[in-house]
Amino acid sequence: MSEQTTTEPGEYAFVVVSNRLPVDRVQNPDGTFPEGEAGWKQSPGGLVTALEPVMRERDGAWIGWAGAPDLELAPFDNDGIHIVPVALSAEDIEKYYEGFSNDTLWPLYHDVISPPTYHRVWWERYVQVNRRFAEEAARQSAPDAIVWVQDYQLQLVPSMLRALRPDLTIGFFNHIPFPAYGIYSQLPWRTQIVRGLLGADVIGFQRVADAGNFSRAVRRLTPFVTKNPVIEVPHAGGIRRVVARAFPISIDSASYEEMARRPDIQERARQIREDLGNPKTIMLGVDRLDYTKGIGHRLKAFGELLADGGLAVEDVTLVQVASPSRERVQAYMQLRDEIELTVGRINGDYGTISHSAINYLHHGYPREEMVALYLAADVMLVTALRDGMNLVAKEYVASRIDDDGVLVLSEFTGAWDELKRAVRINPHDIDGLKDAILQAISMPKRERQARMRSLRKRVRENDVAAWSSRFLETLVEAAAQRTVRPAATDDIDDLEWTVERPPGGFRA
Ligand code: G6P
Repeated sequence: MSEQTTTEPGEYAFVVVSNRLPVDRVQNPDGTFPEGEAGWKQSPGGLVTALEPVMRERDGAWIGWAGAPDLELAPFDNDGIHIVPVALSAEDIEKYYEGFSNDTLWPLYHDVISPPTYHRVWWERYVQVNRRFAEEAARQSAPDAIVWVQDYQLQLVPSMLRALRPDLTIGFFNHIPFPAYGIYSQLPWRTQIVRGLLGADVIGFQRVADAGNFSRAVRRLTPFVTKNPVIEVPHAGGIRRVVARAFPISIDSASYEEMARRPDIQERARQIREDLGNPKTIMLGVDRLDYTKGIGHRLKAFGELLADGGLAVEDVTLVQVASPSRERVQAYMQLRDEIELTVGRINGDYGTISHSAINYLHHGYPREEMVALYLAADVMLVTALRDGMNLVAKEYVASRIDDDGVLVLSEFTGAWDELKRAVRINPHDIDGLKDAILQAISMPKRERQARMRSLRKRVRENDVAAWSSRFLETLVEAAAQRTVRPAATDDIDDLEWTVERPPGGFRA
């Protein structure tokens, strides 16, 4: 890729690029399609809810993968959004998605809870697939369009896209943590990734600490000056200002409140309690089955409480929803085996004919069912060992329109930075976790309500619409100030070249 390479502009003024499309390819959804035919169903993510209005207003396109191998699909319009599927082959999925994204970057960025694997062929494929996404974005974007790239799977896209289309305003948001330099520095391609991100005008992170970790990586790996939150990147004979700062993401809290007010959903919550035998306390865990979520720590604390008499199986049920995730990655297979073994042991040791200790569900559920579960749960356990945000914590809070229920929240989640009235835990401290569970169960109603009211206020004030407008406002402002100052040194051309194209190109 040379700097001179440019692409003919497309027609979309606002383009979102993410690994997954906001719609899922499904076989015969709800029987709406003839037998054997596939269709599209909107996936319920908060991101699409937040961006939908902006997309409609501004002629939006969304570029992403449809979630299955070798789907060569033509772009189409879905509910006012132009959807542009990017095809990934089985080998792309293995090396770029399961490999580099989810077996290298994911464990590395989550503080090496599971050891990351470094394979040069995975990196090469990550570069190739990122380039494909960047080229598609360049093709779809109108002159001077805004392009917003999402998450760790696509960190090279900002620089690749800037090289193809210097007219564009480019934002990037990292949904997962950005690790401390001592950990990040393990990555053999650490410099290329940092330079890839620096192609953006604004780089958003979940926490202030993540933005700080990124700036430190920039200082260690590049000669660029950082003046928090601005990083000065040499560009076209001058200086391009890149803003790197925290924009904590949120949920569409009004839609959760609305669902929680629905009589059918409240009835379903009652039904759930009854089906569980109306125990005194229902505790709930809701996670993708991922080793970052601390599900094992949670089970250990719960099992010990049943063993030492802190809890009686007649009084408390733990409902654990563990939705299937990345099932072809070895670390996830192993985790599933461990969790299911532990659940089986606890149920075998402490369950009775009429009471099982843990109700374990290896499924994903529609949002309505989740809200019913949130309403039914007296205590919500979020015990992540490291989590960019943890939206489940916010969903629980938004759903508790009765100002009741207790959130037990790990201090290692992004959500903790905002939800300080939750019961705080360090999931590694099993005794502390057990105490927090007992505290949550016996918390007086007045205290529960005071805490939940304040948590709800917080979630309502910073919902996902506020998040996206804050990011986009910053992006538009940053772009207006782009390429301002002339460079102070005359070796800047050299640096400029390395920003747009690292030595040896984007390959390892
Ligand atoms: C996290 C990531 C997302 C990802 C999601 C589900 O929330 O930040 O980018 O889409 O997990 O994982 P999956 O691998 O199924 O897309």
